Amino acid sequence: MTNFEFKNPTKIIFGKDTIKKIIEEIPSDAKILMLYGGGSIKKNGVYDQVKAALKNADLVEFGGIPANPEYAVLMDALKIIKEEKITYLLAVGGGSVIDGTKFLSAAAVYEGDEPWDFVKKREPIKKGMPFGTVLTLPATGSEMNSGTVISRKETQEKLAFGGPALFPQFSVLDPQVITSIPERQLVNGITDAFTHVLEQYMTYPAGGFLQDRFAEGILQTLIEIAPRVIKDPSDYEAAANFMWSCTMALNGLIQQGVPGDWAVHMMGHELTAMYGIDHARTLAVVAPSHYKYNFEAKKEKLAQYGERVWNITEGNVDDKAYAAIERTEAFFKELGIDTKLSDYTSDYEGTAEKIAQRFTDRGWKGLGERQALTPQDAEKIVKMAY
Ligand code: NZQ
Ligand code: ZN
Repeated sequence: MTNFEFKNPTKIIFGKDTIKKIIEEIPSDAKILMLYGGGSIKKNGVYDQVKAALKNADLVEFGGIPANPEYAVLMDALKIIKEEKITYLLAVGGGSVIDGTKFLSAAAVYEGDEPWDFVKKREPIKKGMPFGTVLTLPATGSEMNSGTVISRKETQEKLAFGGPALFPQFSVLDPQVITSIPERQLVNGITDAFTHVLEQYMTYPAGGFLQDRFAEGILQTLIEIAPRVIKDPSDYEAAANFMWSCTMALNGLIQQGVPGDWAVHMMGHELTAMYGIDHARTLAVVAPSHYKYNFEAKKEKLAQYGERVWNITEGNVDDKAYAAIERTEAFFKELGIDTKLSDYTSDYEGTAEKIAQRFTDRGWKGLGERQALTPQDAEKIVKMAY
């Protein structure tokens, strides 16, 4: 295990009927901008609960943040922050609304003219406007981490950045919100969280025994609750375990002291930027090919995962590792998630070359846990995923 320093300052308020508690977390003299997405919160009662809790607060609203939060839309929100002299941001939504809010937190105090500059630079963000969140979609873990991913249609880019200033001050996790989530988004959430764990686990044995067990526990819980959540999102026990698993999958805990990969996400983000494919689905497309391509480097962890998570006991390390990849792909398919790029677009020729070129242009010469995955490797992996 390598040395680490770990601090996660986000306060989690978890459970039934907890949205009303937001008023206790926001300074009483704050001028709040409440940010939300395309309107689901107006149909499922979350909007009303937030408004009721903040009925005596100084509140301005901004709706319409789209899935894969779009820079141009966020720049409209930034104008409001400046004009209205906002001092506190409240995200009410899924990963896209929370990520958009994180961008705005940084942009609100940025001294340069063009916020896209700090997005592109990817330097750690050290100051931001304070913000909290009300999570409506378990998936990304954005409610308890300091990362964000912003899209820009104009340039077909989707870039991740973050920093210590971008942890939410608090996040409210009321599992009852999942009752209104369409099945497509529920299975996206399960797949995204599952892959977050894989990105931090499927590397090489690094002596992080507890981190491995935490990771395997989250994967097993996601596998256990998936059918229940899909069958009946109002099953509170399943919903609560789903929501907490997604948060724990990417709040920093399981990655301490061990290597991380994240190449699946880097390739996946390009597929969303090019084709608009849902984030989680791009991961299901890339992951099986990525693990097959990097089989030798990852086979020990693949075999351990196969044994401990999927009860694969037959054969040697290679057999178990291979079966584990197959089982993972089958799991995605059982959720109703397609795992080939050609399932999503017929216009895929040239995608791999384009991604490799983008990685080269950005200087991403070595991705993965050993910084050894070149743009040419990424090209081959994406081709395998056609
Ligand atoms: O916009 P509204 O109308 O709210 O509808 C949303 C949206 O259409 C809907 N939805 C959310 N909560 C709902 C609901 N519908 C009914 N009932 C509810 N309770 O679901 C749709 C998808 O929402 P979105 O926020 O886009 O989904 P998700 O949470 O999966 O976020 C995806 C974004 O997060 C980024 C992804 O790249 C993508 O841009 N990620 C952020 C990460 C992070 N910050 O740590 C890590 C992830 O790997 C990921 O990259
Ligand atoms: Zn993800």
